[in-house]
Amino acid sequence: MSVYLDYNATTPLDERVLSAMLPYLSARYGNASSRHEPGRVARRAVELAREQVAVAVGAHPTEVVFTSGGSEANNLFLQGVAATFSTAGTVAFGAIEHPCVLNAARQLTRRGWRLAELPADAEGRITLAGVDAVLSAAKKPELWSLMLANNETGVLQEVESIAARVGAEGHSGYWFHTDAVQAFGKIPVDFRRLNQAGVHALTLSAHKIYGPKGAAALIFDKHLDLMPLIAGGGQEGGLRSGTENVAAIVGFGAAATLVSEHLAHLPARLQAMRERLEAGARDLGATLFGANAARLPNTSYFAFAGIEGDTLLSRLDRAGFAVASGSACSSANPDPSHVLLAMGVPPNLARGALRVSLGKETTPAQIDDFLRALKTALSDLQKLTALQS
Ligand SMILES: Cc1ncc(COP(=O)(O)O)c(C=O)c1O
Repeated sequence: MSVYLDYNATTPLDERVLSAMLPYLSARYGNASSRHEPGRVARRAVELAREQVAVAVGAHPTEVVFTSGGSEANNLFLQGVAATFSTAGTVAFGAIEHPCVLNAARQLTRRGWRLAELPADAEGRITLAGVDAVLSAAKKPELWSLMLANNETGVLQEVESIAARVGAEGHSGYWFHTDAVQAFGKIPVDFRRLNQAGVHALTLSAHKIYGPKGAAALIFDKHLDLMPLIAGGGQEGGLRSGTENVAAIVGFGAAATLVSEHLAHLPARLQAMRERLEAGARDLGATLFGANAARLPNTSYFAFAGIEGDTLLSRLDRAGFAVASGSACSSANPDPSHVLLAMGVPPNLARGALRVSLGKETTPAQIDDFLRALKTALSDLQKLTALQS
């Protein structure tokens, strides 16, 4: 088995989560909409999970809509809210957002919406100056989407200050969303607090917090008007039709109950291991990205000049280490990371990017083994490059 250092791509299922899910994959197979006892058993499980997820982010259960993934929740916000406007408006989003936000926003242009891309600084932070520039336009955006923590760099965004700034402009009729998929479980996420600062909706995903794939949520302020992307039998208050994936939702709820335990113990341990990793990577000549900004404690993103990230990844994979080059969701895409390009990293260096993301099974010994494997892979590749030139 590989040493897994790709927790931002997905996490292993916690065994307590698996135990909570198993009955709903066997004996408790009822449809949560059925009006008999097996159906009621499933319904109660879904509603308990809704409470568990709500509690984990300081929201009310009525503010939680379950979806099939973070991608769907982000699309539900952008496309679902845009659909309630009778005329096309402007959508503002960070240049470093996940592709499921970027591409959902770009799709809106087919319906006449305009895009306002908020620039990032060299450390990967969306700047207040960029927000002010967008706000100074005669026509202010109706939709905003800005992530809490970036999946590639781990850099935290000043979502509260930016939402407050947008709110202070005094224009009404806009909706502000944050993608908290990477932040949730790694740093405290408080919807009530964000909501008070002017954030109306927030996305979470189970498989980044030791829960299953295929369950996620959009948490939103009840004032938000939303058109469902999937019409049908009216599940999830009519906002997301389709028979609920009860086992996955139960797993999401169980994983959400573990978040406070993880937050109490993990960040300091992960950060110490990350520092050990980065000191070693620097010694080998790495350029680190976003290292001067506040970051998630588990994420490290770096490159070595003249070395392709994908080639290095394959070498490390063969040596038994699972890491990512750029964003996991776009690893099939050889283009340099849009996040690094938005930070002004030269394309040649950006092509070398390697993301290492740590989690609760990571140990200091694994970091040392990884650094040894990295050193060997780099010197092999440098020898090859020397031979070819
Ligand atoms: C920041 C961010 N948003 C959204 C997503 C998509 O979530 P899901 O995989 O649940 O569709 C990811 C997944 O990598 C992510 O990192």
